[in-house]
Amino acid sequence: MIQERLIQRGSEAEIILRGKDVIKRRIKKSYRILELDEKIRKLRTRSEAKLLKKASEIIDTPKLIGVNEKEREIVMDFIPGKRLSRILNEMNLKEQKKICRIIGGNIAKIHRLNIIHGDITTSNMVLYEKEKTKIFFLDFGLGFISQKNEDKAVDIHLLKQAIEAKHFQNWKELFEEICEGYKTYEKSNEVLNQLRKVESRGRYKEKY
Ligand SMILES: Nc1ncnc2c1ncn2[C@@H]1O[C@H](COP(=O)(O)OP(=O)(O)O)[C@@H](O)[C@H]1O
Ligand SMILES: [Mg+2]
Repeated sequence: MIQERLIQRGSEAEIILRGKDVIKRRIKKSYRILELDEKIRKLRTRSEAKLLKKASEIIDTPKLIGVNEKEREIVMDFIPGKRLSRILNEMNLKEQKKICRIIGGNIAKIHRLNIIHGDITTSNMVLYEKEKTKIFFLDFGLGFISQKNEDKAVDIHLLKQAIEAKHFQNWKELFEEICEGYKTYEKSNEVLNQLRKVESRGRYKEKY
């Protein structure tokens, strides 16, 4: 018998460690109509597996080992390391900046392939234990494919908000580094211009 251990229970999924594999199992949502819930969980499982597979070919993410749509499960590699949200603030500014540059570079790569992550926060990133220059992106559960600059801008906007909220001490400098890393994407200018529009719209909404 291979040992199983629950490592995380979120609102949508359970994360189980089985040997060296991680199983992400989408759990029942009792507030949804049963049939609809089954359908949603199946579709999200399928979509997350596809995006993870595609992303893993270009950036550091867990490798997809398998998907079991019937059980609403994705099986992937376990990534040893710490969740970035928990450790970023303990680092010195130079280290923080280096990591943010890598994050921006990772986003550049997935956006080039029109992969929108959908929930880029430091909680969905792991600093790899074996090589401290590797940041693994997790959780493509809210991801989708889109060519639109608007969708890419919103993806970055969410990360900016997360940095502002959780890593507020140096957030401006950190966000600048993310943008520097992102500039390795040929269309970064278009997206960053769109980001300004998204944000001015946000302010407008808050005011009125
Ligand atoms: N492949 C993995 N390797 C290591 N830790 C993981 C892995 N997948 C998930 N985790 C851990 O479980 C947490 C929740 O996983 P995540 O995919 O973000 O689920 P949720 O959709 O519930 O947010 C992550 O923040 C991370 O700490
Ligand atoms: Mg998550």
